[in-house]
Amino acid sequence: MKLDTKFSTIYISSEIQKILTEILQNFKNRKIFVIVDENTKTNCLPVIKNIEGIKNSKIIELESGESNKGIKSLEKVWSSLTENGADRSSMLINLGGGIIGDLGGFAASTFKRGIDFINIPTTLLSQVDASIGGKTGVNFLGLKNELGVFNHPKYVIIDSSFNRTLKKEHISSGWAEMLKHALIFNEKDWDNLISNNIKQIGFKELNLLIARSVSIKNHFVEKDPFEKDIRKALNFGHTFGHAFESLFMNTTNEISHGEAVAHGMICELYLSGSFCDFSTNKIDTMVSYLLKTYNKLKLNDADFEKIIDLIGHDKKNEGLNINFTLLEDFGKIKINQNCKRELLIETLNWYKNL
Ligand SMILES: NC(=O)c1ccc[n+]([C@@H]2O[C@H](COP(=O)([O-])OP(=O)(O)OC[C@H]3O[C@@H](n4cnc5c(N)ncnc54)[C@H](O)[C@@H]3O)[C@@H](O)[C@H]2O)c1
Repeated sequence: MKLDTKFSTIYISSEIQKILTEILQNFKNRKIFVIVDENTKTNCLPVIKNIEGIKNSKIIELESGESNKGIKSLEKVWSSLTENGADRSSMLINLGGGIIGDLGGFAASTFKRGIDFINIPTTLLSQVDASIGGKTGVNFLGLKNELGVFNHPKYVIIDSSFNRTLKKEHISSGWAEMLKHALIFNEKDWDNLISNNIKQIGFKELNLLIARSVSIKNHFVEKDPFEKDIRKALNFGHTFGHAFESLFMNTTNEISHGEAVAHGMICELYLSGSFCDFSTNKIDTMVSYLLKTYNKLKLNDADFEKIIDLIGHDKKNEGLNINFTLLEDFGKIKINQNCKRELLIETLNWYKNL
């Protein structure tokens, strides 16, 4: 399947070798660079390394992990480009999950004021989310995605069979973002998605679900590329989600981004019921699916203050009310909903007693 968007051409296919070969024919006399980490070097590079155009490319290997998504790795990429004679016509291929995509996209966007890049996402999360939409960047001074630019890859090539070697938690992490896309779009998409069992699904069927998820994300990106307005719909579940992710970070109970977002969605569904009259029956059904799919987080009363602090961290100057993206119903989005602290505590109490 081919999706020609305003910003990139996106392929979702099990014929990645054929597609990449065809694309690279148009880049014959140009230098090609491929970024990998130790996991994608072993598990994903063999799929493309014999393709004409990749055979003689320069492979740049970075260390995996969020702590390596920073200036040091960025410098390594820029140095390698310079030392190996990259020029403005060179092409950078990001073969990896969201970290390689974000970092490689930023490196390409800033090298000689911008060179072309291709994303080949190899995790479910990056296939449905990180590889599209044009957000690139790195962490800085302990702050996530503190440096970055909006800039889109020329091509995105998605093949869900890369997920064959992914750890289970990375599959369920991506699944949460797919659920979010369905929820903010319409009920039919939600019903269709949950009729599938992500643990048993074949790669051909998964490619179809990914294609749908990508086109939903693209719908919001094209309407509002710089996230000033309706693109904020994609943040549903992420305000509580980011706080949960931070709360458990560096503990023995660390959770993935998607798992945190799944529980964030549960809380923000509750807020949507209280604040925007989203039907309680529908909410109950969704919450029960989410709790069946993602183990409930163990929260105690002492965590509540920490969570509220984490949520309000960068909004202190706006007083104690926090802005959320909420829903009136499937696909009926209400951005910039200002919730009081008391309602957030009520939400956490409700979650704890589920
Ligand atoms: N740009 C965006 O719009 C956007 C959206 C969501 C998330 N993100 C970013 O994405 C990052 C998270 O991405 P992620 O969840 O893909 O994590 P990741 O890139 O860290 O990948 C997860 C792990 O899986 C390994 N891996 C990757 N592909 C593999 C494969 N096919 N087989 C085996 N192992 C493989 C990686 O080496 C890594 O250890 C975060 O930094 C987040 O900020 C960006």
